[in-house]
Amino acid sequence: MALSISHLLGLEGVSKSDIQTILDTAESFKEILSRPIPKVPTLRGKTIVNLFFEPSTRTRISFELAQKRLSADTVNFSTSTSSVKKGETLKDTVRNIEAMKIDMVVVRHAVSGVPFFLTQCMDAAVINAGDGIHEHPTQALLDMMSMKEKFGTLEGLKVAIIGDISHSRVAGSNIRGLKTMGAQVMLCGPKTLIPRNVEELGVNVNYNLDEVIEWADVLNVLRIQLERQESGLFPSIREYHAEFGVTLKRLERANKEITIMHPGPINRGIELDSDIADADFSIILNQVTNGVAVRMAVLYLLSGLEGSVD
Ligand code: CP
Repeated sequence: MALSISHLLGLEGVSKSDIQTILDTAESFKEILSRPIPKVPTLRGKTIVNLFFEPSTRTRISFELAQKRLSADTVNFSTSTSSVKKGETLKDTVRNIEAMKIDMVVVRHAVSGVPFFLTQCMDAAVINAGDGIHEHPTQALLDMMSMKEKFGTLEGLKVAIIGDISHSRVAGSNIRGLKTMGAQVMLCGPKTLIPRNVEELGVNVNYNLDEVIEWADVLNVLRIQLERQESGLFPSIREYHAEFGVTLKRLERANKEITIMHPGPINRGIELDSDIADADFSIILNQVTNGVAVRMAVLYLLSGLEGSVD
């Protein structure tokens, strides 16, 4: 049941068997979440610090809930009320936190590579909750859990990822995880937002959204990062919506069953029509529910504890 990794920094290089173990363990934890008292003593005595240097709604609440459901002691760090504001370095910050005897750290940071950096200056297990444009591994794990729940397997599943691939840590982790698990991956978005030579990762690229919809079982629609518009990487919101917006009209034209996913937060009416986000073929809220179970699994498996989950 143990993983072959001691930190979760990304899904690059994480084996199929480790991903499978996380997804199987998450399924057991999901059952616990539906009990009248959804709490088990599994991580009693373990102390976890959530270091969020960047805004988050889903990931932060989901990790906190996962820790509480497992009876861990948790502490939340917020940049705005910390000594980082007085100029303390990241290294000093984390070494001081570790001196308070903690077991695990969950970190989100705007700079790619910060979770790896933390592994170099502390002994605690590190879990990446999103670093810059690099990886967001627990998001991809919860996405894979949601697809597996719907389709029974990831093997051969046709998954299209739509949007700003270049700046998306969600895309980065999904591509790696899905390829490892045997899914087929297609990328679609403006040419300026698709990395050059991305096919080397074993994925295909198609710039025509209607053709991609014809091909796919699942559309994982990414948040268009409005802040990128200033850098001139896509022309206008209206043009983006016209070319790459997932609309009811497009889906009706394709006349096929399709599953819609989105990591959130959604720009309704830009990358995704509001009525599609809320449709019964959207599994967006299932993704959020599964996020708690996946994070419980990751915390438990990296805690070094062995034995029954409950
Ligand atoms: N999906 C995701 O990472 O959302 P948050 O930024 O709200 O955590």
